[in-house]
This record gives sequence, C-alpha cells and structure tokens, in this order.
Amino acid sequence: MFLNRRTFTASVGAVAGLSQLIPIGRANANASTPLFVATWNFGLASCRKSLEVLQQSGSLLDAVELGIQVAEADLKNDSVGVGGAPNADGVVQLDACFMDGATHRAGSVAGLENYPHPISVARRVMEKTKHVLLVGDGAAAFAQSQGFKKQELLTEEQKKKWEAWKSKQPAPGAAPPNHDTIALVGLDANGHLAGGCSTSGLAYKLAGRVGDSPILGGGLYVDGEVGAAGATGIGENIMRSCGTFLIVEFMRNGMEPTQACKAAIDRIAKSERKPISELHINFLAIDKKGRWGGAGTDNSYEIAVVTSNSATLEKPFLVK
Ligand code: GLY
Repeated sequence: MFLNRRTFTASVGAVAGLSQLIPIGRANANASTPLFVATWNFGLASCRKSLEVLQQSGSLLDAVELGIQVAEADLKNDSVGVGGAPNADGVVQLDACFMDGATHRAGSVAGLENYPHPISVARRVMEKTKHVLLVGDGAAAFAQSQGFKKQELLTEEQKKKWEAWKSKQPAPGAAPPNHDTIALVGLDANGHLAGGCSTSGLAYKLAGRVGDSPILGGGLYVDGEVGAAGATGIGENIMRSCGTFLIVEFMRNGMEPTQACKAAIDRIAKSERKPISELHINFLAIDKKGRWGGAGTDNSYEIAVVTSNSATLEKPFLVK
C-alpha cells in the first residue's frame, strides 16, 4: 500500500536504540511499540521528540504534547503555531485538540490568540476543567489563568505575505488552500493510545472560522480499545463527515489502518459530490495492534513513522 519510502538515515541515527530499519511491509503489518505517527515531513521531528519523552518519562501524554510543541515552535512551518498564517484580518488564531484513549477524556481550544502552544492549553482543558472545548477570549482567559505565557504569533514574514494578499482585495476567505496541520498519534508498549492535533488553520480564513483540527472526530479521534486517526487538509471537507471518527469505526469493524483511511476518503468523496482533486483531505491511523497506515488525496502528503528502532517518512496511499 505504501510507495516511495524515504529513509532518513541521518535522523534515524538520532533515535535511541536504532540498529536496523524495518522493511515496509513488516512495519505496516506487525509494527512494534512504542509507535508514533504524524502528518507531513515536519512530523518526523515531532515523533522523534515524542519517542524521546516517552523513553525518559514513561508518559504517553507528555510524549504527544511535547512532540506537537516542536511543530508549533517551528517558524518554517506556516500553518502551525508561531509563524502560522493569519486570518483575513491579519490575526493568527490557533486551533488544537488532545485526546487520551485510556480515559476517553479530551480537551480542545479554537480561535486561540497569542498563546504559542495551543496543544498544551487543550491538554489543560482536558485535565483541569469539566469541559471539552473552549474558544476565543474564553480560551485565552483560561490559558492566562493556567500560567501560559503570551507571545506575538504573527511573524514579519507572514505579515508581509498577508499584506500582499490583502492588497489584491480578495473575496472574503479566498486563499490558496494550505494544509500543513500536525496530527500526531501514539501507542505505548502497554497499549495506551493518545493523540493531538494543532493548526493555525486555512490561511486568510474568515475571522472566527474553526476547522476540523480542534473537533473530535474531525482532526483527531482516539478510541482506547481500537486505535487513533488524525487528519490534515481542508477542514470543512473533513468535518462534514466526521472523518477520523469514521476511520476508527472502520478499524473497529476489522479494517487495517490504510484500508480504513482509504474507505473514509471514498465515503467523503461520495458525500461531498466533488472530484477527488478538489477535496484536499489526508489521513493517518494506527490501531491497537501497532499497525499504522494512511491515505490522502494530495500527492505531496507524507507521514512520519517512528518506533524505537526506526524513523521514516512514508508515502501514504494516494486516492485519485
Ligand atoms: N485542517 C486544518 C483546517 O482546515 O483548519
């Protein structure tokens, strides 16, 4: 199911205990634990951080949170965290969610301004409140009450790009699709599953627009008995079909991860009544057995897969 495997020996060397690479078929069929899988090539650094944290602390939740923080802090990444593209008003509004499969607890934030690590605020919502989703000013007030530090999220580079876009007097919400959201899911050696998702959302979105990333069953879903799935791409196309919930349900009914991701895209394409080339939806999934997979509609889509003895970028099944 996977094509064009790219093996990163340099980065692999940084993974503790690496001695050999797992052939692709074996990795997908009988993956070892711990296992971390994330969207896009920048997900490799996040997954490596997650493994390091898990090996040092034993906490899968810390591993997921701190792994995603790496992508949020990466200025080269223009749709997650600091340096993310702003909305149509030139304001960076971040979305994130966090879910623990062992307890079925979850937390989310949406439209969060001036806090660089929405994934950490989302985890705090899960751990410190009775709620699941906090938005806008309420989310920011909660972050402040929890001692998170404020920071300007709009970089000079993003400001210039936004000004150039604005000068063309575009229609509201009209912008080229960017979809570099990080979704990261993990499984430890005890069978504990967890995941998180973080994004600045579509570039130049309408102020207040919330995508799939903070929505459980949209950008992320984790079921401690079955597996976990994450998404990147145009959130509206994912949310209308509860894409990641659908993938987990397909796995519950016996599909392996890649098959489940592909089946979800087929279902969404049918529901959306749009050509596949217009969907821009990309998924990853892991199951409780430690099998991983992915499928997407974008040729550029890659997933990072890290275990204690391998760290690779994989080309998921391309749905055309
Ligand atoms: N998938 C990210 C978004 O649509 O906001």
